[in-house]
Order: sequence, then structure tokens, then C-alpha cells
Amino acid sequence: MSIPFYNFAELHHDEFRKEVKERISKIIDDGSFVEGEFNHQFETEFAQKQGAKHCLLVANGTDALEIALLAYDIKPGDKVGIPGITFYATGEAVLNVGATPILIDVDPSTGLMCPESVKRMSEAHDLKAIMPVHIYGLPCDMKALENVCSPKGIKIIEDAAQAQGAFVEIGKPVGSTNSLVTFSFYPTKNLSAFGDAGCILTQDDSMVEKIKAIRNHGRGSETLLGRNSRCDHIQAAVLQLKLKDVDRLNEQRKKHAKKYHELLEGLPFKLLDSKYIELSSWHLYPIQFESEEMRKKAQQALTDHNIGCTPFYERSMKEEKVLSQCEGESENANNFSGKTLNLPIHPFVREEDQIKIRDILKNAL
Ligand SMILES: Cc1ncc(COP(=O)(O)O)c(C=O)c1O
Repeated sequence: MSIPFYNFAELHHDEFRKEVKERISKIIDDGSFVEGEFNHQFETEFAQKQGAKHCLLVANGTDALEIALLAYDIKPGDKVGIPGITFYATGEAVLNVGATPILIDVDPSTGLMCPESVKRMSEAHDLKAIMPVHIYGLPCDMKALENVCSPKGIKIIEDAAQAQGAFVEIGKPVGSTNSLVTFSFYPTKNLSAFGDAGCILTQDDSMVEKIKAIRNHGRGSETLLGRNSRCDHIQAAVLQLKLKDVDRLNEQRKKHAKKYHELLEGLPFKLLDSKYIELSSWHLYPIQFESEEMRKKAQQALTDHNIGCTPFYERSMKEEKVLSQCEGESENANNFSGKTLNLPIHPFVREEDQIKIRDILKNAL
């Protein structure tokens, strides 16, 4: 029996499909294809869930990052700190607005942006903004990052593409800080559309009209250069429906993380600190090996048994060709990349699957 890395079949069960079809049929009848009632409903409900004052839907998570940079008036040549470990889109967004990425090093045990490295890089460079990434769904230390950035007026854009369901601290969901916080609703994410979608959360009233104008060709502003990054009504209809069940599904992920922590203890790789059990969204469940060879061995053993697993992230940002010339610090990130394997942690993983995964890893290593 194979164990998939994602499980779209169970996520999109018959009852859900029936409701989605009804919604899509109504959207076709009404001809309300872009920015319809579900967009507004979702924006209100998602902002409330994440502890933000405003939510602005956009076309995808990469646009959300770029629009957040533009909303903070980041201009060509401005320096923006990005972590050495992230999905490529974080660096890409900085390059796409003509700004210059500066590499910030990461914590060697989590891959999260390191506040001390931000401090060093802010002394060496005139940073206009930083983009901490809640990678794997683990929250960055936002308090420490704010302590470094706010006295220097450095803006913070949190890349929460993987962190729907995560908490920056107990009781404080990702999205409830004073940063601009961006999400991706790509189909593999904890809260996912039927294609591409994303959003920006903010507490700042003055950002709302600006972001609305940028996402829609500059409409409503005489001076802003915009783009088309509107969110389709069908995507918003799917998201608004899924929002009703996402807490229960995230609880399942957390339960699986707890179980993995129990089952995998003592095996020859590192698990995340158990403080993350309550804080992470468990978008991914990473285990960290001493060497890339060990990671590959484990990956091969799981793959041989048809168990989905992914080595995110095989390359640090410094090791990406397009970003290799970037200045900054990357020692921990370069050492971190390639040694992590992510195990299946979608909501429908069963305990017997987790036991099987433990047994395979134990035998292989
Ligand atoms: C950390 C991170 N940032 C940005 C993105 C980009 O989101 P999208 O694919 O919706 O453009 C992703 C998506 O995978 C991501 O994981």
C-alpha cells in the first residue's frame, strides 16, 4: 500500500464536491467571475481567524510578496533581507520589483531566519525590509525580529505561504503581528484553492486602498502603477468553503506531528524541538540528517516502499544560480540544505502509516 505525500481525494470528499459544484454553477449563472461575494466573505472571515484587521486576496502567493514590497514603497536598488532557506519565490519576488536581496543566515536546527544575523546584516547594509519565512509552518521569532527592525525603521513582510494554522506564540496566530503577512493558497497548502490564489494581511488601514489599487491595475489611485492580481471568484468560493473545516484538518496534522515525535525519537536524525508541536501549522514534517548521504538513503528506502517524501530544500538561496551573487551570510543555510527530508503529514495520514514509516526508517538507517 502506498502512502501519498498529499491526499487530494480525501480532502475533496463527495459532500464538499457537491457544495463546490453548486457554488460554481451559481457563479456561472450570475457571471460574477472575478472578485465576487465569496471574495469579500473570505477576506472578512480569514482576517478574523488570523487576528488581522484586513485581508486582501490576490492571484497567488508570489504576487502577494511582490505587492507587499510595492506597498512598502520598496524601489529598485533597495536592499531586502531574505533567509538563506526558503522556497525560491521569496527571493524571486525581491528581484521582480528590482530590489536587491541580502542573504540572512538561519538557525541551524530549524532553517528559520536568525535575528542575530538580521542585526549583523542591518549594520553592514542599509536594509529597507526583511522577509522572514515561516518555513515548513514553523513560526519565526517575530518578537526578536521586531526588536532588531523597529528601532531602525526596517519593514517586515512575513512570508506565511506555508503557515496557515501556525501561531507566532500561543494564542497569537500568524497574521496578528504588525507586519504585512502574505499567504499562498496553492493546492498543496494547508488552506488551498483549486489553482492559484494568495492574500496579504495587515493591521494598517493605510495599506488597504494601496494594495487594492496595485492588485487591480492601479484603479482608485492616480499615481500607483498596478498590475492584474485579482483573485477569481471560483477560487474564493472554494477557499471560503474550506475555511469552515481548516481548523479540524490542522488539528489532525498536529496530532500526526505528536505521534511522529513519539515514534521517531532515538532514530539517527534530528526532530524539531517539541515546543513547535503547538506552534507550527505542520504544513511539512521535516527530519534533519547529519549528511546528505543519510538523507538520500532514507529517501530511497521510503520511495522503494511507495511512500511520498520530499527533500525540501535541497539548495539554499545562495546555491540557487540566480541568487548566487547576493551579498550576506549563508553559512548555516548552506550547511542545512540537502539534509532535510519531509514525511507525509497531510490530515489523512493514519497511525499505521506512521508506524510503517518508522519501521522502514529504522531498518534502513
Ligand atoms: C515559502 C513560500 N513563499 C512563497 C510561495 C509562493 O506562492 P505561490 O506558489 O502561490 O506563488 C510559496 C509557495 O509554494 C512558498 O512555499
